[in-house]
Amino acid sequence: MSSSTSNPPRPAQGLDRFAAQIRAGLADALSLPPEAISLDRPRDPKHGEYAFPCFRLAKERKMAPPALATWLEEQLNLDGIGVQRVGPFLNFRIEPMPLAKAVLPDAASEGFGSGQEEGTILVEYSSPNIAKPMHIGHLRTTVLGAALSRLFNHLGHRVVRINHVGDWGSQFGKLVAAWNRWGDPDQLEAEPIEHLLELYVRYHQEEKEDPSLPQQAREVFLELESGQDNPTRQTWRQFTEVSLAAFEKVYQRLNTEFDFVRGESWYEDRLDQTLDFLQQQDVLELSEGATIVDLSEQGIKTPCLVKTAHGTTLYATRDIAAALSRWQEFTFDRCLYVVGNEQKLHFQQLIGVLRKAGCDFADRIEHISFGLVRFAEGKLSTREGRVLRLSEVLDRAVELALEVVQEKNPEHPEPHKVAEQVGIGAVLFHDLKHLRNKDVVFNWKEVLSFEGETGPYLQYSRVRTAAILRKAGRPVPEVQTIDYQHVAEARDLMVALGRFPIALREAAEKREPMILAQQLLAVAAAGNAFYRDFRVLGSGQGVEDARLVVVDAIRRTLDIGLNILGVPIPETM
Ligand code: ARG
Repeated sequence: MSSSTSNPPRPAQGLDRFAAQIRAGLADALSLPPEAISLDRPRDPKHGEYAFPCFRLAKERKMAPPALATWLEEQLNLDGIGVQRVGPFLNFRIEPMPLAKAVLPDAASEGFGSGQEEGTILVEYSSPNIAKPMHIGHLRTTVLGAALSRLFNHLGHRVVRINHVGDWGSQFGKLVAAWNRWGDPDQLEAEPIEHLLELYVRYHQEEKEDPSLPQQAREVFLELESGQDNPTRQTWRQFTEVSLAAFEKVYQRLNTEFDFVRGESWYEDRLDQTLDFLQQQDVLELSEGATIVDLSEQGIKTPCLVKTAHGTTLYATRDIAAALSRWQEFTFDRCLYVVGNEQKLHFQQLIGVLRKAGCDFADRIEHISFGLVRFAEGKLSTREGRVLRLSEVLDRAVELALEVVQEKNPEHPEPHKVAEQVGIGAVLFHDLKHLRNKDVVFNWKEVLSFEGETGPYLQYSRVRTAAILRKAGRPVPEVQTIDYQHVAEARDLMVALGRFPIALREAAEKREPMILAQQLLAVAAAGNAFYRDFRVLGSGQGVEDARLVVVDAIRRTLDIGLNILGVPIPETM
């Protein structure tokens, strides 16, 4: 991050405390600055928490890697950390007592894993098109964008969340023209999105036979672009309003918010300015009547079209205007666009145009791309070839979750409420647990399972911690008062908790919420093993005290992580 250089050094949390100690020890032995030492994770967790591969340094010092490792092993004397050489590697294993003492107070504190990072990060996500239903393709952008925003926020950044709604362009001339011919106000009232979609489809069916239709669409779009408040604009505004109301329902279900919902139309009165600016910067060229920016010198073969031969602006023009306006308004350190990888070229062009026009901030723009969602089988299989609505997918998830909830807990007093939480949580988590550029395949059985790497499994683990704390029937003791002897054995759990702050940072740096998702699974698994191996309630006053603190730390960690991901947290299941 460009801003991180000016940041104060962040206080180490969790396992990081030991990384600092190991780095300092190695640096000292090798007479190097600690920043020059980079630690890895041993491939086999049994070998410890950190590893130092000696290859590179051995080469520099003209030594055999195992010899350097042996020498270092003798030199090092780290308090509370065991050092062992395996071939060319040094492995570091933290002793149980110092481990628990370092990790538990962090994990038991309010802002576990939070930070004081500076800098403004703008995250643009969701950005559906009006007059059309949100479809399955909008799931990932919405869920990834919201999770990244909350993650940056937890780490201390200022985050600006923008929904760049697609509400402008010649297609709205077509839509209003279709409405003027066939629109039905009653139907618009009853089922707005369905009706608008119908009109759009009908327009495309009839346009071939009826040349007056495209002619009208062009005229209507000119009326829209005139900037005057005419009937066309009023109609378009009404379409925008009904669409946003429909989107809002989905956003509520998905726990998503924005600081700004700004349609492409918001930048409309900056388009001339934008073209003037590009003109001044001498980057515009004419090509067959259209205005383009040639980007071949940046290795981008397709030029960026910024104005058609008819004089209308385009999606890309509005994105250039938006970037300039955002830079002016927010002076962001980073500007992230969470958009599917099918728009890769578009964002290369956007960055390319800005760079060519001399805008240094172009280097702060990132396209956060992601893969497709597919359905393996069943009612919502993508093979049927139709566009899947996002609300349908969510409804289906909730319907199936209800079956699972009623089967597992027929006595639950609020099955519908829990089913909504479990169904939505399952879809969200499934989406977030993969590397974003991988395609995601939905297999309902797997997505909704209470076991395995699923949202419901995490929710269930969280419910379990809450149940233990409830049954204890007393407040969780202060972490400062406990005897660590009683928790030191829970080594794997301490490692899993101790890695949580590291996972948060890594997830933010790589813009990969999956790193956090995977760490939560590790915490839940280690937590469940802890209850299996160690008795908590009724284990005797001092023991119970210490273990209740541990249970509460698991609960807190799951809460922080699930909240960042947007997975709902049911009290019972
Ligand atoms: N509205 C577009 C779509 O649904 C996505 C917009 C992405 N954001 C942007 N700044 N171009 O395909």
